Order: sequence, then structure tokens, then C-alpha cells
Amino acid sequence: MQFADRLNKVETSAIRELFKLLGKPGIISFAGGFPDSALFDVDGIRAAVNQALGEEPGGALQYGATEGYQPLREQLAAFMASKGAKDLAPENLIVTTGSQQALDLLGKTLISPGDKVIVEGPTFLATIQCFRLYGAELISAPIDADGVQTGALEQLIAEHKPKFVYLIPTFGNPSGATLSLARRKQVLEMAVKHQTLIVEDDPYGDLYFGDAPPPSLLNLSANVPGSRDLLVHCGSLSKVLSPGLRVGWMVAPAELLAKATMCKQFSDAHTSTFAQATAAQYLKAGRMPATLAKVRAVYAERAQAMGDALRKELGDAIEFVQPQGGLFVWARLTGAGGKVADGNVFAKRSIDEGVAFVPGTPFFCAQPDHATLRLSFATADVDKIREGAARLARAL
Ligand SMILES: Cc1ncc(COP(=O)(O)O)c(C=O)c1O
Repeated sequence: MQFADRLNKVETSAIRELFKLLGKPGIISFAGGFPDSALFDVDGIRAAVNQALGEEPGGALQYGATEGYQPLREQLAAFMASKGAKDLAPENLIVTTGSQQALDLLGKTLISPGDKVIVEGPTFLATIQCFRLYGAELISAPIDADGVQTGALEQLIAEHKPKFVYLIPTFGNPSGATLSLARRKQVLEMAVKHQTLIVEDDPYGDLYFGDAPPPSLLNLSANVPGSRDLLVHCGSLSKVLSPGLRVGWMVAPAELLAKATMCKQFSDAHTSTFAQATAAQYLKAGRMPATLAKVRAVYAERAQAMGDALRKELGDAIEFVQPQGGLFVWARLTGAGGKVADGNVFAKRSIDEGVAFVPGTPFFCAQPDHATLRLSFATADVDKIREGAARLARAL
């Protein structure tokens, strides 16, 4: 079959290949990026479904506006306001089919073949694939424990004049890193100085374990004149409520929102009205704060257990920053004591020992660090996390 040229630049994800091996009986998986299904607020969602069908069945089951179901846009604007984006109107956002669709719409509306886009090294794999599908030339900006290195980022912006910069500033996937407050301000100032569009992808910001992370770029943009016009913010209910709902949203300047809405019309007409009405009722019922408190507590315990177990079992063969939120530990093999130092080799040996994680290389669009690994603590309980770490030690 003759496929479109655009497919030539995209390979099947290495992670997908790895997932085929996860069916092995008894395997402990730290590989997924899923939230734990045992934490879904089934009663709350069932009540929201009943409300949605009881109150406005027409709205929940009929075709709807491409921009989104208005009561959900209102609830999402209020949810964002409760987190500090006080000046946001429902019209400033559209509902998307997961935040993944927001990324796709950004690709569709902004990227022409050969356009440059700056992403973090490492970044979310599906973003790399999606932007490449539209022909983007991706440029990798280095990160450290405080997120993207702003000095290097500014140089790259000046040199490459990218179409936009894509960042996951809070509990990044896969890095777990959070951009410091000082750097957040610098990023917004840089956007204005170089007139560069910044995309803030923020599916994990609510999953913090101790203190709340610094305010989002969206919240901070109110204090940096001109920056709101150069900022896109993507949100999602996937990691905090349910990915199966496929409810995400995108806040963007009006001109971009209009183009994205037009493209969305050709993609899926609108996000499922049934899912949107359910999400709207769920938010309206005021259940979100309790749900967030519950998931934060469970993931905090698991993150601590994983950090402790990795330190105990793997010692100086591995190094990582203890995550303060999100779903992932991002680690590096040190090769200490002649132990394995390549993430891909270690992943294969680990599967033989009955434990899986994702090697870090696919998360880099350029110059991969082969010693890196991403381990999710979200879906295994504390006992499994400890057992998994012991198996990892055997695979070293
Ligand atoms: C950084 C990041 N962005 C976007 C997504 C897409 O999430 P969803 O489409 O479920 O909202 C994910 C999911 O893993 C992610 O990690």
C-alpha cells in the first residue's frame, strides 16, 4: 500500500513493542503511564452519569458544539480559577478529546514541514511522534532537576526561531522534573522578548505529594504583560479522574483557538457529549477536591516506597531525584561496580527477572542518554514495588 510521505518520519513506538512482552504471567510492571484503575471514583462518576442523563439527556446524547459542551467549559474555567487562573472565561478554552488531541491540533494548526519546534530532552514520547508526523524538526533543550535550562533554551530560541516551544513544566513525563518559579518567569519573559509561542502541557500539576508546585505558566502569565497572547495551556482529567473519559482542554489565544476548533471539526466534530456532560456533572458536584486528596496520598506513598526500595536494592548503581509529584521516577544507571549502564540492556534483563520499565532513549528527540530509565510507581502497590525493586537488583 502507498502511504502518505508524512508517515516516513514516524516509527512505531519502542514502548508499544515493549508492552507486547508485558503479558508474561507474574510480571511486575513499572512501565505504563496509566493512573491506577483501583483509584477511579466509580460511585462519583456513576452519580454524574445519572445526573447528566436525568437533567439534560438531549445535551448528553446529541451532537454538540465543536468548542465543547458549554456547562463543561464553565466548570473547567471555574476549576482552573480555583487553582489560580482567575481571569479565565469559558470562551478562552476548548474541550479536547484528551490533551493528546490538543497536541495533535497544535501540530495541525501550527506545523508546516520543516518547521522547528523546541521540546525538552527528554519529553513525552507521543508529542515527539505527533509533531514529527506534521513534519516538525525537533530541537532538544536540556533539562535538570529544576526543569528546562532557561539559558540554553533562550540560546536555542534565538538560533532556531522555532514555531513554538513545548514544555511539561510540572512533574514532567518522563523526567518528573518541575520548573522552578524563577525559571517559569524567565520562560514567560523570553516568550515576550522573542515573540515565541510557548505550549504548557500540564496533565500532572494536580498530583503533588507535599507542597503545591509553583503556579502554572498560565497563572503566572497574568503578571507578565504580553505573555498570555503567546501561551497555550493544555489540561486533562485523565491522570486525576479517568483517562477513559477522554476529556482534556486547551487554553489559547483566540486566533489559535478558532483555527484549532476548525481543525477539530474535521477530526471528531466534538468530544463525546456524554463524556463531557458526565465530567461537567462530576465537577459541579464538588467531588474533585476529595478525589485529588485521595490520589495524591496513594501516589505519595508509592513514590516514597519506590524511592526507598530503589536506594536499598540498587544502591549506587542508580541515581535519581525523589519525585515530588506525578507518576514517574526518572533514573540513570551509573555503571558503578561494573554493573549494567545501558537502559535498553537492563530493560531486557529485567523482563527476564519478571519486572518491566521503559528505557529512557525513546523520550529524547536527539542525543539520547542511554543510561536513563522511566519507572512508574502508579499502578503497583507498595509490596509489589518492593518486590519489583528486588527483581531489578537481580537483573543488574
Ligand atoms: C505529558 C503528557 N501530555 C499529554 C498526555 C495525554 O493524555 P490524555 O490525552 O489522556 O489527556 C499524557 C499522557 O500520558 C502526557 O503524559
